[in-house]
Parts: sequence; structure tokens; C-alpha cells
Amino acid sequence: MSATILSGKLLAEIVRGEVRDEVAQFRRETGRAPGLDVVLVGDDPASHVYTRNKEKAANECGIRGELHTLPADISEEALLKLIGELNARDDVDGILVQLPLPKAIRSDRVLDAVSPAKDVDGFHPVNAGLLASGRPRLVPCTPLGCMRLLELAKVDLKGANAVVVGRSNIVGKPVAQLLLAANATVTIAHSRTRDLPSVCRAADVLIAAVGVPEMVRGSWIKPGAVVIDVGINRVDDGSNGGKGRLVGDVAFAEAIEVAGAITPVPGGVGPLTIAYLLKNTVIAARWRSAT
Ligand code: GUN
Repeated sequence: MSATILSGKLLAEIVRGEVRDEVAQFRRETGRAPGLDVVLVGDDPASHVYTRNKEKAANECGIRGELHTLPADISEEALLKLIGELNARDDVDGILVQLPLPKAIRSDRVLDAVSPAKDVDGFHPVNAGLLASGRPRLVPCTPLGCMRLLELAKVDLKGANAVVVGRSNIVGKPVAQLLLAANATVTIAHSRTRDLPSVCRAADVLIAAVGVPEMVRGSWIKPGAVVIDVGINRVDDGSNGGKGRLVGDVAFAEAIEVAGAITPVPGGVGPLTIAYLLKNTVIAARWRSAT
């Protein structure tokens, strides 16, 4: 039997439609557009593509978007100064600092400098702490996208065994918090987990967020499980005119034969991350205008 494909691309179109309506309402109420400022440091090609896509998606939804491109050798102090300016600006509702930052810059120091009220990535310790305390405010975008995909898959999370492979602050930990809040029984597995295949085989819901191409094999999946593949890995195998191909953390061709539902890569979680960034920007704008 072949799994249902959960199209993040189609679902993201729906979410963006919701955002367009929310932006229009915000504009009617306040007379201004919500604003999202994206900070990109250095010349990582993938980060350039991601940030351009974020700005483009923001503008398409009626959000004022601005991209601040800074050289790789910018000092930490100069970057902190820009963030301070964006924190103080009234037309800036959301600030996103694209990761990874150059090695010479301490990412924690930079992310901690973003005002929690404008932290549309949900990475600030205040927002991470609120989520962990069961009082979510600005929640990381990829985990929100994962939850929306589980809703599309009509999974009953109450009492379900959810296994998250990966413990990053960006995906693994926050998605585990959201699953727990939805009453799933949550296991966070990682590179040191003993007998990872067996742990995964117990999962009714499996979230793969490790960044290792095709690590989760079909034999690791419980028949009928819902599989959300967060990985986006470029494999340079000479295919696609030398550009290589994008694969997830799950061996898709094997998994589709076992799972009940699965997200593809590309076109799964990725488009939802951007859609939820836009949602978070509207949420931040509403809170700021209400307080
Ligand atoms: N780099 C890869 N994913 C992300 C993300 O979700 N937010 C930011 N700021 N940088 C990233």
C-alpha cells in the first residue's frame, strides 16, 4: 500500500490565503502594513535563496518586507547595532536573523538581542521558555508547519506515540513541546539514542529533523504511521546536470510503501515554514498594536 502524500505546497497556499486576509484586516484597523525585516550576513548561497523567498512571500501577502544584506566580515557590534535599530523602529513588527551566522559571530548573543516581541522565529529564550511553560507566544515556524500538516493528516494526537528524531532549538525541541501540548506521548531521539530503529518503529507519528540524508529507512517505520520529514539535504551525486538533488531525512521511496501518510521533499514542510513566518509577523504586529 502506498502512503498518502501530504502536500505542504498546497497547504502553504491555504495558509498564505489566511495571512492575506489577516494582513488586509490589520491594514484596515491600523492604516499600516505589518513589517518583516530579514537580516542576512555573508554569502551562503542557500541562505540567499531562503531570504529572498521570505521577502518575496511577505510582499505577496501585503507585508512590508525588507532584506538587510551585510558582509561576512561585519563585526558582532555592528550587527547588534542594526538589531537595536530594528528593535526601536515602529514600522518593524518582525525581525529574522538568518542562520547560520559566520563563525566569528556569536549566534546566541545576536539572537538574544532581538526583542522577544519581534522574534518571529521564536528563537529568543523568552519565547522558548514561554512555549515550554505551556504559554506559547511566538512559536518557531517549522514546528508550527509540522503541526498544521498533522492536522491535514487528521491524526488523533491524544495519547499517540510521537517520536521526534533531532533535538535542535529550531525544530526538535519546540515541535516536541507542541506535540506534548496536544497530548501526545513524546520521545525525543537523537544521535546518541540506543537502537534508534526500534524507537522509531514505536511511533504513530514520526518527525525526522536530523539533517542526515535518507537516514530513516522504510524498515524503521510502523505500518500506517504518519511521517513528517523536516530534512532538506542536497546530495551531490552528479544528477540534475551536476546540481545534485534535494532529499529529506527519510528514505522516501521505502517509507511510502509502509507509512500511512508522508511529506515529500521538496514540497513538504519547507513551504509551510515560510507561510508560518508570515503568520507570526501578523501575530507580532497585532500584539504590538494592541499593547
Ligand atoms: N536557517 C535555516 N532555517 C532557519 C529558520 O527557520 N530561521 C532562521 N532565522 N534561519 C534559518
